Amino acid sequence: MNNIQKTLSIIKPDAVERNLTEEIKSIFKKNGFEIIGEKKIKISKEEAEKFYIVHQSKPFYEDLCNYLSSGPIFVMILSKENAVLANRKLMGATNPEDAKEGTIRKKYGLSIDKNSVHGSDSEENAKKEIDFFFSS
Ligand code: CMP
Repeated sequence: MNNIQKTLSIIKPDAVERNLTEEIKSIFKKNGFEIIGEKKIKISKEEAEKFYIVHQSKPFYEDLCNYLSSGPIFVMILSKENAVLANRKLMGATNPEDAKEGTIRKKYGLSIDKNSVHGSDSEENAKKEIDFFFSS
């Protein structure tokens, strides 16, 4: 049975700043994702804190929110069969040092913070994250 899902992808400030947006979009398309929503935005620290609220108790929360709000980001709704998992595989491990060859974070990630892309980690979070950026 087919299981077309939507997931949220963010091209983070380090990658937008290096003009990698089009290159990363083309990787998603080549891998069979349809980009059904997209926009370039800059968010405030308060918005970043809301977006990453699940990480509130983590030691890296403050730096993470400062970073996501430090420059323009490119947010996308991706659609594909099993999109949530497929996107996580294509992104690779959170730390680019651990990411496999051929993944986006291996290719472009600079560090665990500047790891170029974010992707929803479950279908439930994908719905919340898509709503966060695209409901208005
Ligand atoms: P992302 O998938 O956007 O989700 C949360 C982000 O926190 C993660 O990518 C990393 O960029 C960042 N981060 C910083 N330090 C850590 C850490 N020790 N473990 C996990 N994520 C971290």
